[in-house]
Amino acid sequence: MEPTYYNETLRHALQLVQNKTTDMAESVLTVPLDYYRNTELRSRERELMMTTPLPLVYSAQIRKPNDYIVRRMFGKSVLIVRGEDGKARVFENYCRHRGASPAEGCGNKQLFVCPYHSWSYDSSGRLANIPGRDGFESVDPGSYGLVELPSEERGGFVWAVLTPDLEIDVARFLGPQIDADLSAWNYQKGDFVESREFVADVNWKAAVENFAETYHFQTVHGQSIPGQIQVPNTSTHAVFGPHHFMTFPKKSITELADVPETNWDHDVGLTTVYWIYPTTILVNPPGVAQIIEVLPLFDGDQDQTLIRSSFVGYNKAENEEHTQMFKMAIDIIWEAVFDEDRPVLSLIGNAVRNSSQDHVVVGRNEIGVQHMVKTISDKLNYRL
Ligand code: FES
Ligand SMILES: [Fe+2]
Repeated sequence: MEPTYYNETLRHALQLVQNKTTDMAESVLTVPLDYYRNTELRSRERELMMTTPLPLVYSAQIRKPNDYIVRRMFGKSVLIVRGEDGKARVFENYCRHRGASPAEGCGNKQLFVCPYHSWSYDSSGRLANIPGRDGFESVDPGSYGLVELPSEERGGFVWAVLTPDLEIDVARFLGPQIDADLSAWNYQKGDFVESREFVADVNWKAAVENFAETYHFQTVHGQSIPGQIQVPNTSTHAVFGPHHFMTFPKKSITELADVPETNWDHDVGLTTVYWIYPTTILVNPPGVAQIIEVLPLFDGDQDQTLIRSSFVGYNKAENEEHTQMFKMAIDIIWEAVFDEDRPVLSLIGNAVRNSSQDHVVVGRNEIGVQHMVKTISDKLNYRL
């Protein structure tokens, strides 16, 4: 089931396509290249990311008790695990003895045994065993569980704030509209299918902007799915707090002009794209949903960004044929979108490092990019 206000958005998108125009910002925005290349911004950016709720995994990825996944987020190793009580929890993946990482990869485990001296932790983060207990007689195991991070399972995702002891309130963070949308999309019902990733030599802010405009569809994706099915350089744009909701109309949207609104099939008309500030993009193509995480590595002198795309089917795969169909859909999206965007992201990264121009220009038609730049620069107290 899609969110309820879609007909209104669809009507607006249809008008844009019929009038050969797009939602526009008020004026052209110039952005100093310094906004992308200034390494002094990194610590403030990292602080923002470490104090903001982030959707780490689909609930479906750790559906059963003791299912777990380890993720590296801005340098920090994080364990996401469902306890025997069914509750998803998020921990810093650092042993309380001398700091090795008890968990690795993903799977299903009752006990996480640290690879250094074999302290073990259960799936609720409690310290279960200290080998050679005599050496640690004054250590109370009850006080040496894994460090828990604030987390909440909501809208089909496990969210966390990556700093202990902060509050988390995902509904307040998303606002009522996007919060309701996530429930309506039914992510929690889906079957997890696949996660893919690559590292690009580009600043994360430039990378996330790539998912906020269709202006590049004709040139970059002209021969593949986005260029073939989407109307280039056309989008709707609505702001919800720091986040935004965009729709990218499909060429087939004009077929809806003659269909009564009560019979509109949104998949015929639109692809929907949410930006969940600061690093997450949610896309809803037919059949599979996609979360794109744009994660700066904050490592080394050169900007590098991990772009991870995780797909989930809205419905359970009933049989092998369904699974194969999901995989085919994912292959098509991956080849069309990411294999084509990747080289362009490197070009942009190179310009940020080496160009002597002092600013870039973001058009009125690139309204989603403008919103990202304005929102992020504002949060960083950075004057454009
Ligand atoms: S560091 Fe984990 S058991 Fe020693
Ligand atoms: Fe693209």
